Amino acid sequence: MRIVRWIGLGFAGLSGLAALFGAWVYGVSELHYRSYAPTAAFEHPIPTDAAALAWGEHLAATRGCRGCHGADLEGEIMFGAVATPNLTALARAETAATFEAALRQGIGHTGRALYSMPSYNFVRMTDADVAALYAYLRNAPVSDAAPQDELAPLFERIVGDFMVRLAIARGEDGAMPKWLDQVPPLTEQDNPNPRIARGEYLAMTSCNECHGFDLRGNAPWPGSAPDLIVVGAYMPEQFTRLMREGLPSSGAELPMMGPVARGRFVHWSDDEVADLYAYLSDMSRRAIDAE
Ligand code: HEC
Ligand code: HEC
Repeated sequence: MRIVRWIGLGFAGLSGLAALFGAWVYGVSELHYRSYAPTAAFEHPIPTDAAALAWGEHLAATRGCRGCHGADLEGEIMFGAVATPNLTALARAETAATFEAALRQGIGHTGRALYSMPSYNFVRMTDADVAALYAYLRNAPVSDAAPQDELAPLFERIVGDFMVRLAIARGEDGAMPKWLDQVPPLTEQDNPNPRIARGEYLAMTSCNECHGFDLRGNAPWPGSAPDLIVVGAYMPEQFTRLMREGLPSSGAELPMMGPVARGRFVHWSDDEVADLYAYLSDMSRRAIDAE
């Protein structure tokens, strides 16, 4: 009898400790999630003319918003755990400043840091482009379709959330606001060749989602996508084929780049493809000269 009582007390003690530990992890991570504040509020005028709205639509298509927010921007479930918001509904409900804080600063409308929205990919977007994107989203029809895919079972999501929080509590921070400092500034905006300047802007607001903050295949996903100096070995028509059909010169199917090019980059204009090629082949030349 006494043994049973001791075992009972032991369990009670252990669950008490586990509860304390859980509360600590939750509290520390929640403080951290909320420790970032947007810098100066966004004040750029929001355009209403048809040309600006069409430009906003082009930005949404080429920057892959639909890849994660759903074909009709209605929202989607990612990794069975994160629900991306309905972007057209959100743009109507939130101010331009709130939208900009999420897009370029990685801070959501609740004031919490975003973890899986790639703001590092949009941090260099110009004020005029942010405004056009917001104007387009506010004016595009709101889809009432249910988000695609389904949430994983509740238990799996709780465990997943706890693992992320545990990493944060231990100081391993993957918050977007922290990543943004690692995206290098644009350096070619005064280049005498305007194609190089424009191409840098395009690459640094699209390709760096996967090819590294600096396009050199490093962070945040080292080893998953190649250093873009590989473009130095492409002929212009090979690069165009990659952007238009998602196929490299070998014609082999690229598991990630193929669908991404066919989903997003088919929407580049011919000029944008030429701009990207000019910038990336110049970057490749500079990298080789530096060696
Ligand atoms: C790689 C996937 C991905 C891409 C690409 C992406 N998003 Fe997101 N976005 C997310 C996720 C995931 C969330 C929800 C994050 C969260 O709740 O922590 C989100 C949230 C947002 C939010 C709301 C933040 C808030 O809570 O206030 C806005 C606004 C947003 N995205 C805009 C955009 C726009 C505009 C584009 C295209 C230019 C885009 N996103 C592209 C994944 C993505
Ligand atoms: C969503 C992630 C993603 C984005 C965005 C992306 N890429 Fe890629 N890219 C990859 C991956 C991953 C590979 C490696 C092949 C694979 O797994 O598909 C790749 C491969 C490549 C290759 C090498 C193809 C070969 O010959 O093997 C080139 C060149 C390339 N990408 C150019 C670009 C350019 C230019 C952009 C921007 C306009 C871009 N990528 C945007 C993920 C991406």
